[in-house]
Amino acid sequence: MEFKLMPGGAITGEARVPGDKSISHRAIMLGALAEGTTRVSGFLEGEDALATVAAFRAMGVDIEGPEDGEVTLHGVGLHGLRAPQEALDLGNSGTSIRLLSGLLAGQSFACELTGDRSLCGRPMGRVIDPLTMMGARIEGVEGGRPPLKITGGQSLQGIHYDLPMASAQVKSCVLLAGLYARGRTSVTEPAPTRDHTERMLRGFGYPVSSEQGVIALEGGGRLRATDIDVPADISSAAFFLVAASIAPGSDLLLTHVGVNPTRTGVLRILELMGADITLKNERVVGGEPVADIRVRHAPLRGIEIPADQVPLAIDEFPALFIAAACAEGRTVLHGAEELRVKESDRIAAMAEGLTTLGIANEVLDDGIVIEGGTPGGGVILTHHDHRIAMSFAIAALRAEGEIRILDCDHVATSFPGFDAMARGLGLQISTLAD
Ligand code: S3P
Repeated sequence: MEFKLMPGGAITGEARVPGDKSISHRAIMLGALAEGTTRVSGFLEGEDALATVAAFRAMGVDIEGPEDGEVTLHGVGLHGLRAPQEALDLGNSGTSIRLLSGLLAGQSFACELTGDRSLCGRPMGRVIDPLTMMGARIEGVEGGRPPLKITGGQSLQGIHYDLPMASAQVKSCVLLAGLYARGRTSVTEPAPTRDHTERMLRGFGYPVSSEQGVIALEGGGRLRATDIDVPADISSAAFFLVAASIAPGSDLLLTHVGVNPTRTGVLRILELMGADITLKNERVVGGEPVADIRVRHAPLRGIEIPADQVPLAIDEFPALFIAAACAEGRTVLHGAEELRVKESDRIAAMAEGLTTLGIANEVLDDGIVIEGGTPGGGVILTHHDHRIAMSFAIAALRAEGEIRILDCDHVATSFPGFDAMARGLGLQISTLAD
């Protein structure tokens, strides 16, 4: 599928973007392993989260839905999973494979985890290393890429792990393996990352401590079923936050957005660039902060992105690069080498597309320099990455010519219905089958 965008337009109205991807995955995992029935609402019916649902079904968990964002899980308890008949195919989803590798390292059965071409190119040494230290037997191919083979039947030992990179997936993997380990499992991180796993474990009645940067739990406890209301995904909202900021005449309200402080780097960065963003109706829903966000057009200026905001905005940089492309002056990003190992190398893929649109940029090992200007039109390659596709779609609001974006099927991994919602809010987008 391709996107075709006519230049110009303003973003107005009100919308609730689909459910948070990170929270949707975790709701399925913990609901499946809890004792009792868990009801999830606001679930993201995107391919990534559905891959997690399929994996637990393949391990014998009775899951009803999703239907209109509602999922009911009949939890089997921490020791109730059954060996899957075949390899678990996690599609494009890094969160599924990395969190599941932790959960499955402590099971009595063997299993294999695999995915699509993009996932099979992503580094898994980062989870293989700590799990091996805990006593798991887990192997990848070509120096630590999927498919991952987990031997099972090993008894795990709690460890302390000092994370070498700021990664919530690695942190979560180790903590989830820790549920099955003897004694205490703890982690420290080089910078705070999204804490949905810790919050949700507590929501399922599992004690997790978080003191002076050390996150810890004891193995051998139990999860008690609970109900989960998944907020709208700030990572999906980010496309419209940028869209409304750059398009003159825009005034948009995004409702029920998750504003967990480990995810709101995009708000801080846009505010520093001069964006007009206000949070309303702030509340806590099921342990996660939520708000309605109003954003109006404002002239943006280039900035040096503060290093401490980088892990807090890691998924939003493709959209933020479009904000930088439409800002006045230069934007500089450092310390974001993790962008190179996402669904695509997001520094290279964004730089290529920006260059196509005539936006001057310089690629750095760990970031990028972008000179704000006026994007032209052109044909963009997404490198099969959902966030690259959606980012260049919003660039059309300020472009001088038509933008065609090839290969947009992956948008369905995180944001099903993006094109229809974008059209409803004012983007001149149409889709073409390829
Ligand atoms: C995620 C963590 C982040 C993020 C990904 C989702 C999670 O990955 O990029 O989209 O749900 O834990 P890393 O942990 O690799 O930074």
